[in-house]
Parts: sequence; structure tokens; C-alpha cells
Amino acid sequence: MTGGGDLLAGKVVMVTGASSGIGAAAARVGARHGAALVLMARRLPRLEELAAQLRGEGAEVVCAAGDVTSPDDVKRAVGLAVDRYGRLDAAFNNAGTTTEPALLHETDDADYDTVLDVNLRGVWLCMKHQIKAMLAGGAGGAIVNNSSIAGVRATSAGAPYVAAKHAVLGLTKAAAAQYAARGVRVNALATGLTRSEMSEAVFARDPAAEERMRRRNPQGRVADPEEVARVAVWLCSDQASFVTGATMAVDGGAGAW
Ligand SMILES: NC(=O)c1ccc[n+]([C@@H]2O[C@H](COP(=O)([O-])OP(=O)(O)OC[C@H]3O[C@@H](n4cnc5c(N)ncnc54)[C@H](O)[C@@H]3O)[C@@H](O)[C@H]2O)c1
Repeated sequence: MTGGGDLLAGKVVMVTGASSGIGAAAARVGARHGAALVLMARRLPRLEELAAQLRGEGAEVVCAAGDVTSPDDVKRAVGLAVDRYGRLDAAFNNAGTTTEPALLHETDDADYDTVLDVNLRGVWLCMKHQIKAMLAGGAGGAIVNNSSIAGVRATSAGAPYVAAKHAVLGLTKAAAAQYAARGVRVNALATGLTRSEMSEAVFARDPAAEERMRRRNPQGRVADPEEVARVAVWLCSDQASFVTGATMAVDGGAGAW
């Protein structure tokens, strides 16, 4: 499924953190599968560049500059989907961040705040406004939240990141239970090591980390962002109609080892 398809034909899909990595890959895969896209990120020039590329390939794309920790920015992005396309069918809440990992007792409170704000509050705010729009549309919807293998066990990413990603799974399950009867599905990805700005920053800080992490992975490699994006696209599609409240491992087997 590296090419196109019609998994998201006729669907309006919002992607956060779409200017790079897994989010940009989700925009590319979603466009190939026929989605009309609302891309949200803080770096508008990069987002516009990606949007222009996708439009050149025939996709419908609008860009919303914004920070997922800002209720106004999130509201505006969801509003853009409704104003431009009439509704919101699906969302991939992917924006996330890390700070330099440290032992818990040596972690700055400011780092804790940043990591919890973006990774948890951001997903909370996005879901809140997306679900409102989906309920108003009357046709249900599908949400996929990008957690991490750090959402199911402790990793070297630092306690605030591990806590935030665990909490994303809690939000996912609570929302899945609350809205299943109204046709809104909510799932999460337990994403493993993936090549992106985030992982490149880790490798730059600690050059031996890549080899160490590869050795801990049954497939012995780092994922391409599209390998994660394809799973998000499938979960957003009607093919996943009986899947909700699930945590889908996309980790090359790391969680099984
Ligand atoms: N790369 C990995 O190995 C890995 C593993 C597990 C989970 N993840 C998760 O995948 C998601 C995507 O990360 P990635 O690996 O593609 O890295 P990335 O750094 O390329 O992408 C993260 C994106 O989120 C955006 N972002 C950060 N803070 C934001 C904010 N406040 N508002 C809006 N956008 C914001 C960034 O600008 C960027 O576009 C993150 O949630 C990350 O935690 C990544």
C-alpha cells in the first residue's frame, strides 16, 4: 500500500504536527487515499510547501497555522474544516514534543510543563473540538491519537514524556467509551522508533543511541514515517469500523519482545 487507494475518498481529515515527520507522511498518504485535508502546524511556510506539493498531485488541502496547546488555534483549525468542506470526518492528533531526557528528580518543571502541554493537553483540546464538530455533523467520525511505546512502558525518553503518552491512551479509551454509540471511534498508536526530526535530535545528542535502539527492536531497524502514517490512515478509514478504544502497536515488534 505504498501507492494510492481510496481508503479516505470523500473524507475530510485533520492532521496536527503536519509540517514534518509522521504528520507530513500522514498528509501524503491521506492525500493519496483521496482525503480532503486540514493540516495544522506552527511552521506555516513548511506546511504551505507541503500543501502546494499535494495540491499539485490533485489533493484538496487547507492549512491552519497554530499551536495545539492553544484552544483558539485548535478551534480555528477545526472551524476551517467545517467552513471549507462542511464537516470533519477524521483526525490524526500527531503533534508531539520531547525535551532532553533527565532523571525525574533532575527534570526542570518547565520541561514537565512543555511536554505535558503539547503531548497531553494538545490531544485533549483537539479531541474536544473535533468531537464537537463530528457530533454536529451527525455522521460520526474517527480519531487517531499518536501515543508511543512510551505510552505502554517506561522508555529512556524521560518521565514527563512517558507519563503524557500513557495519559493519551487514557484519553483515547475514555473518549472511545463515551462516543461509541454516537459513531465516533477513537484509537491510539503505540508508535516505535521512527525516523523524524524528533529521533534525529536524539541520535544527534547521543550518536550510539540509534545502534542501541536498533538492537532492541526485533526488526532491527527504525521505521520510515510512512509506515506509521499508513496505519493511522487505515484506522481513520471505514475499514476499521469495529475498532475503537484500541492501542495499535506500530513498533516492528518491540512491544512483543
Ligand atoms: N519518531 C519517533 O521515534 C516517535 C516514536 C513514538 C512516538 N512518536 C510520536 O510521533 C509524533 C510525531 O513526531 P515525529 O516523530 O514525526 O517528530 P517531528 O518532530 O518530526 O514531528 C512532531 C511535529 O509536531 C509539531 N509540534 C510540536 N509541538 C507543537 C505544538 N505545540 N503545536 C503544533 N504542532 C506542534 C512539530 O512542529 C512537528 O511538526 C509525536 O507525537 C511523537 O511523540 C514519535
